[in-house]
Amino acid sequence: MRTQMKKVETRGDHETRRWSAEEIAREYVGFFRKRGHLEIAGSPLVVPENTTSFVIAGMQPLIPYLRSDVSPPAERLVDLQRCLRTDDVDAVGSNGRKLTSFHMLGNWSVGGYGRREAIRLALELLAVYGVDRERLWVTVFAGEPGLGLARDEEVIAEWRAADVPEERIVPLGMDDNFWTTGGPGPCGPNSELFVDRGEVLGCGRAECAPGCACERFLEIWNLVFIEFERHEDGHFSPLPLRSVDTGMGLERMAVVLQEAPSIFEIDLFWPALERLRALEGSGDGDEARAERARRVIVDHARAALLAGLAGVVPGNLGRASVLRRLIRRAARQGRALGIERPFLGELLEPLARAHGSLLPVDEQGRVAEVARMVTDEERRFARVLTAGLRALERIVAENGGDEIVPGERLFLLHAERGFPADLAAEVLAERGLAVDWSGYEQALAGHRAVSRVSAERRFRGRSESSHPLHPLSVESGEMPAN
Ligand code: ALA
Repeated sequence: MRTQMKKVETRGDHETRRWSAEEIAREYVGFFRKRGHLEIAGSPLVVPENTTSFVIAGMQPLIPYLRSDVSPPAERLVDLQRCLRTDDVDAVGSNGRKLTSFHMLGNWSVGGYGRREAIRLALELLAVYGVDRERLWVTVFAGEPGLGLARDEEVIAEWRAADVPEERIVPLGMDDNFWTTGGPGPCGPNSELFVDRGEVLGCGRAECAPGCACERFLEIWNLVFIEFERHEDGHFSPLPLRSVDTGMGLERMAVVLQEAPSIFEIDLFWPALERLRALEGSGDGDEARAERARRVIVDHARAALLAGLAGVVPGNLGRASVLRRLIRRAARQGRALGIERPFLGELLEPLARAHGSLLPVDEQGRVAEVARMVTDEERRFARVLTAGLRALERIVAENGGDEIVPGERLFLLHAERGFPADLAAEVLAERGLAVDWSGYEQALAGHRAVSRVSAERRFRGRSESSHPLHPLSVESGEMPAN
């Protein structure tokens, strides 16, 4: 039975009857429950024993089942999992689909159904959502003979049997269509479902297809056929069970079902974007630059909200440093919009409101506390940011047209003013300037040697300087997003 649709707050100027993100999630879980899947609770975003800072995929908490280390509570499972990945944080804002935090809807078959049923279920649910079959394209694994991995003929045959036209079945290699956790663990060939959002959003090239960097084809769902264990040395061995692991990006599905121009304009983000616009001062008049800044800000604000709700506070190590970096990056983008004061915390309330039941009542009750934490961090960084941006202007001016900035300049900016080198590099990159990182490393090594000698002279028994964490060593440690 189809969920009753309600009015969705999207682009402000018009309200239409579309699927809200909450409804998309509810429909997904209900659909699979009705088809024999047990609903399990999503894992908290932070799991201390994980090797990644945050949960990065719906399958991560299920690895013991997929490896047959532990029996699953049922053969068929479904859940909604919050994820946060910062491996590709620099790409956020430069396109309309990439987020650091997202909700992954997933259905699993642990040793039960395989490709045929996974595809049948996916097509049936897409029909419920009203996605036109004519807009659907799929990618399949083309094989990697060098690693003894065969082309996925079985999945190709299933897509053909499901009447997907040959030209919309696109074989791609290891990088795109063999999903791994980024390290050892369960893995396998995958097949991704893409929606064609129309030529008008495309690059116009005749060969434009799923996998192209343009905005035309949007990946919405990944079906992974977990069949192998990848070992430390890179070799693969068959797992005892053949399983299915799927992940649908809730926010991406909302782009399709709300016909949003970008992921930042779906119902979950639109109210925060509106609030941000109201806070803006006069920027430098570069609208493309301003749009990118807005996207980075709302993305990072949501990631900070979810990380904060998971109990993370900004700091210098591990996941705490990831949160600090997100807040500082967003604060810097605020300056591009002419916002000179702490503002990020103010976006958390509209974000939380827009998420409705995706944030349970107890979390809604803690939003103000997280907002205060974010504002405190911004406030602490504000003076450093102002002075650092000014110093960077001088560095650019003194570089005399050279496209490479000596790394030592960034080292000193960090050592003397506390301005993070990675943030400085981003500012410079926007001016078309690159950093000589070997010079940075040399300056850092020299500083450490001097600190060590002086510490030994003072008989303080400390061999390491109290130099802040090397900014490039800030952990991202996330798995690749296939
Ligand atoms: N594990 C798959 C992914 O994260 C579904 O895309």
